[in-house]
Amino acid sequence: MQVAVLGYGTVGGGVYAMLQSARGLEPGPVLVRPGKVKEKFQTSDLEAILSDDKVGAVAEVMGGIDPAFSYAKKVLESGKHFVTSNKALCAAHGLELAALARQKGLGFLFSSACGGGVPFLHNLSLATRSDTITSISGILNGTTNYMLDNMQRRGLDYQEALSDAQLLGYAEADPTADVSGLDALRKIMLGCAVAFGRLPTGGLLCEGIENFTAGDVADLRSRKLACRLIASGAPVGKTVSTCVEPMVFPQSAPECSVVMNFNMTKYIGQKCGPIVLMGQGAGRFPTASAVLRDLSSLLTGEREMFPADCVAVEADNSREKRKYYVRCHSDAASLLPLERLLMNGFTIRAVTEPVSPEEMHNLAKKIRNNGGSLFFAAMEDE
Ligand SMILES: NC(=O)c1ccc[n+]([C@@H]2O[C@H](COP(=O)([O-])OP(=O)(O)OC[C@H]3O[C@@H](n4cnc5c(N)ncnc54)[C@H](OP(=O)(O)O)[C@@H]3O)[C@@H](O)[C@H]2O)c1
Repeated sequence: MQVAVLGYGTVGGGVYAMLQSARGLEPGPVLVRPGKVKEKFQTSDLEAILSDDKVGAVAEVMGGIDPAFSYAKKVLESGKHFVTSNKALCAAHGLELAALARQKGLGFLFSSACGGGVPFLHNLSLATRSDTITSISGILNGTTNYMLDNMQRRGLDYQEALSDAQLLGYAEADPTADVSGLDALRKIMLGCAVAFGRLPTGGLLCEGIENFTAGDVADLRSRKLACRLIASGAPVGKTVSTCVEPMVFPQSAPECSVVMNFNMTKYIGQKCGPIVLMGQGAGRFPTASAVLRDLSSLLTGEREMFPADCVAVEADNSREKRKYYVRCHSDAASLLPLERLLMNGFTIRAVTEPVSPEEMHNLAKKIRNNGGSLFFAAMEDE
């Protein structure tokens, strides 16, 4: 099957290179922006790709929602399979594209959009055929994991860790989507849709790592704890919980062995129990290899990752309760349901009573709206 590639950047270059030697697949034309055609295999004419009968599938690796969405619809309308690494596109319009692909009898696969080279969505999608998934979670953003790991292992402060990540090409010039947790949120939204048949589009909770400081590192270390940014989702009645937030773990926990820009994903099946997958969550060839895996899956008849009855839902993060480690100004302490103080003074450190993520995120918003600063992280069950 000949594959056209939309976008010739980090991932696109990797996909095109890997197509040269992939079994059952061959490279087709590559779409670049007008005025940027440099090679014989490149074109800036999308219509020529769509009307080319030799092209059986299109891999979109441009990023962004527009024009990726309109191109995706055109690809499917033209009768070609559609594979993408674009989490923003899938989180915003995945259900629409899945319906169109189903109606046309075509494939719409996106396993590289979550976890890069880690076959998280691919395995989840397979697992749902024989098992009931009870929860999903993971370290889904390599940039923030690199920063947290280097703050805690090498003693860098937040800015040094961010600059380091940018220098190594792990963080974008504008790192907001990574450090705010939004990138991980989009990925866990897709995970919930694949695992539970519910794509959460509202009621989502997202706390990034922007408030984590060298002082927090030192205090956690003295308690033999370490912090990771965790995305999680689970079924709740007819909907799901969906949350991204820092979590603290004992230093010996498996999450703390995830170093540098690696990802770790986990799902729990009623029958299979916990399954953990770890590997490169980003980068040219790890991500391209996941795109190629989807393209190969098309050859064996795979067509969709969202269950056929997948619907958009409002997430519910009000049920499960957990304790939180918090650091804030003493003035804000009275707003928090504290179970025990770890450190008293101008700045306090404490552990809350069990509260729902919704309650904790709302309290944090209130404290910040009042001008206070705060770091909070969920704690593993004691
Ligand atoms: N990089 C990773 O490790 C990774 C991992 C997992 C998923 N992803 C996802 O993969 C996608 C691509 O990421 P990337 O890192 O490869 O980005 P990138 O390096 O910026 O490459 C994107 C390429 O697409 C081109 N492009 C954008 N809009 C276009 C258009 N309308 N027509 C033709 N070409 C267009 C860009 O051209 P210009 O340079 O001219 O703008 C650029 O060459 C994103 O959705 C990203 O979230 C990336």
